[in-house]
This record gives sequence, C-alpha cells and structure tokens, in this order.
Amino acid sequence: MSRAGVQGPEVAGATGPDRHEAAPVVDPRALRQVCGLFVTGVTVITSGMGETADGTTVNSFTSVSLDPPLVLFCLHRESRLRPVIHRTGAFAVNFLSGPQERLARAFAARDTAAIDEVRTHPSGTGVPVLSDALAFLSCQLVDEVEGGDHVIFLGDVLELGVLRQNREPLIFFRGALGSLEDKLAAGHPMWDG
Ligand SMILES: Cc1cc2nc3c(=O)[nH]c(=O)nc-3n(C[C@H](O)[C@H](O)[C@H](O)COP(=O)(O)O)c2cc1C
Repeated sequence: MSRAGVQGPEVAGATGPDRHEAAPVVDPRALRQVCGLFVTGVTVITSGMGETADGTTVNSFTSVSLDPPLVLFCLHRESRLRPVIHRTGAFAVNFLSGPQERLARAFAARDTAAIDEVRTHPSGTGVPVLSDALAFLSCQLVDEVEGGDHVIFLGDVLELGVLRQNREPLIFFRGALGSLEDKLAAGHPMWDG
C-alpha cells in the first residue's frame, strides 16, 4: 500500500516502482490534523546569550537516549532561532506549565517574542533558562539533520532541573493549548468531540 497505509510487498521489492514517486501526496492539513491527535507538552527552546538570546515555542521535543543523554526537537528551516543555535552551539528546552499559555503564544510569533520581558537565569552554557518553567534541560548541540521543511536538532543534556515541582504541564491537543486541569472542566472545547 501507499505511504498513507501499511507498506505491502509491492513497494518493498527492489524492482518495483520508486516508493516515493508512486506514493500519493499527503495533504499537509490532514497530516497536521491527524498528528494533532497525539497529545504533547509544550516547550520554549531558548538559545543565544545576552542581546542575541531568543526563544521559539516548540512541541516537537522528545527524549532520545539516556546513556548518552540525548534529546531532539524539530525546527522550521526558516526559523529565526536556527542561526542563533548554530552560532551558540547550545540550547535549552523549557517545559511550560499550565498557566504559561500566553507565554507559549508570545514565543510562537515572529514579532512578539521578547526574551527580556520574561524572568530568565543563565544555564551553565550561558543560554537563558525561563525561570518560571516547569523544568528545563540545558544542552550542547551535537547534530543537525535535514528533515523536509524542518531541521532536527540533537542535543547532549549537560544540566537539568525542576523549577516548578507542583505545577501541571501545558499541553497541546487538536491544535489547542490547555492544561491538564482543563480536562476536568466540563464543556472545555479542547476535549469535546
Ligand atoms: C503549540 C505550538 C507548537 C509549535 N511547535 C513547533 C515545532 O515543533 N517546530 C517549529 O518549527 N515550530 C513550532 N511552532 C511554531 C513556532 O513557534 C513559530 O513558527 C515560530 O515561533 C515563529 O517564528 P520562528 O519560526 O522564526 O521562530 C509551534 C507553535 C505552537 C503554538
């Protein structure tokens, strides 16, 4: 079958048609909608130092390996943060808490994000950590892999901490931001069919 279904023997053979040429184009909006059913946390990736410090809201974070301690996230190729991470060679992953929805939105727009408007403190690499985040990981950049219109950044975790132990995480589901507490509130649009 095609890329959209289970791969069958007709595309696995070396003599068959090229799998990528034969595969139907997947509608990006459908892909976004289906992937939106996979609930995630929300992070702000920070990088740079001093005047070059910046941040971007990202939900594509995942932990990769415990030994060595590796994590990854995906960033749009044209993101303003990409050259900043390149120059710095380091980044921090800041896990947001439920009450930080506005902050997530502020760092999800090219012109509204301003890192000097939020409370930060420097990590060991010098990259700022958001002081009110749920938790953070400070990382050294170890690899960068092209992935279509995004780039996958792989980082070695050098330092980590829990900053707001008792807060709920901010979560992203069906294209909406919310906290786990919202789940309990009857009629919240985020959870209705
Ligand atoms: C909840 C949420 C999750 C996001 N996750 C990502 C992501 O994983 N990768 C990405 O490149 N952009 C992601 N974005 C979009 C970026 O935050 C947004 O495009 C960016 O901040 C705009 O400026 P920049 O791309 O120049 O940094 C996300 C936005 C939101 C609201």
